[in-house]
Amino acid sequence: MKTMNTSMGSEVAGGKPVPLPDLWIGPVHVGFPVVQAALSGYSDMAMRVIARRMGASYALCEVVLDQFVLQGRGKQKRLWAQISPEEHPVGGQLMGAEPREFAAAAKELVQVGYDVVDINFGCPVKKVLGKCRGGYHLGQPEVALEIVARVRDAVPPEVPVTVKMRRGIDDSPESEEKFFRILDGAFALGVAAVTIHARTVMQKYEGPAQWDFLRRVKQHVGSRTVLGSGDLFTAEACLRMIRTTGVDGVTVARGAIGNPWIFQQVRALAQGKPLPPPPSVLEQRRVIEEHFRLAAQIYGPQQCCRQMRKFCIKYSRLHPEGETVRDAFVRVRRLEDVQEVLKRFYSEDRPGRYAPDRPEENHGRACQQARAQMAHSSG
Ligand SMILES: Cc1cc2nc3c(=O)[nH]c(=O)nc-3n(C[C@H](O)[C@H](O)[C@H](O)COP(=O)(O)O)c2cc1C
Repeated sequence: MKTMNTSMGSEVAGGKPVPLPDLWIGPVHVGFPVVQAALSGYSDMAMRVIARRMGASYALCEVVLDQFVLQGRGKQKRLWAQISPEEHPVGGQLMGAEPREFAAAAKELVQVGYDVVDINFGCPVKKVLGKCRGGYHLGQPEVALEIVARVRDAVPPEVPVTVKMRRGIDDSPESEEKFFRILDGAFALGVAAVTIHARTVMQKYEGPAQWDFLRRVKQHVGSRTVLGSGDLFTAEACLRMIRTTGVDGVTVARGAIGNPWIFQQVRALAQGKPLPPPPSVLEQRRVIEEHFRLAAQIYGPQQCCRQMRKFCIKYSRLHPEGETVRDAFVRVRRLEDVQEVLKRFYSEDRPGRYAPDRPEENHGRACQQARAQMAHSSG
């Protein structure tokens, strides 16, 4: 039975914050409605645990191919099957082409401990689309809905199934009609929530996300649960998306890479408090080291450097000497190099900087690399 719990508020009315309703995903109580998005190449157990410790109330594992799940591949499994006891509820996300394989893989995700199974209908990578996966399904509602139906049937009724979509393949009226067919059909089949990245598949990451589309979707579905995604780079933006579109929750994606403090900040703002100062240099070091310790549990103490290097480059944006620290992290190869950078730049406590409020120029390239990595590993 749902209770009317609330997290503290978003708008200040007469000096008092107006409470934000708690987020529920079906029977799963999430609470504060700002969560960590699925991020291929990033949202492994280490990133998720850091996000949760910093205030995210739910996090999704990066997308995994249904075939990899079914084959239980060693290196891949290390990634998607690693769940920490402290991160429940946690969501696992699947991508694939064949409805039957989706269903079998969904059961396996539940078996390894995921509390929610999310279906990816959004990935825009060319190679993924070429294999009729991810965003490709937005162009074929019948297949998309067969996937939803089979996954919903396959997992126990108490485990919510959710869908991640973009706002369509492109800007055509046909694409929008298909979007709404999948959206309505998915809810009719029993999905507990839909997350919408307010860009089209063709748009990839170019140009702004259309928040107005989220408002239309929320109005269309009424009390059904909708989460919004797109251009959430600051705590203020998270609250603004909730307030202006009416979505039930938001998923922070690029904005949380190397800036997990965004979750603390948004909680403070929601309680009507001022935006907390950016984390000091020693606080940044504490979190970077914690992140390393968690990553070492997945990849091993030396191998985790490769995974952590890209995070450290993002963490460096918060350092008062951001550009110099970035260059130093770019050059690290071994754990000893990282320790050297931390000793050199993170030993003296100084005020930090806020992360940029928009995607960086070079982020497209970094994302492309991460997605290329994923496309490569997905065969
Ligand atoms: C590097 C990268 C990897 C991503 N991987 C996934 C993924 O595995 N699953 C998913 O549903 N979305 C994925 N996304 C999309 C994000 O979850 C999010 O919807 C998108 O980045 C828009 O939000 P933003 O503009 O705030 O970053 C990825 C995005 C990026 C940049």
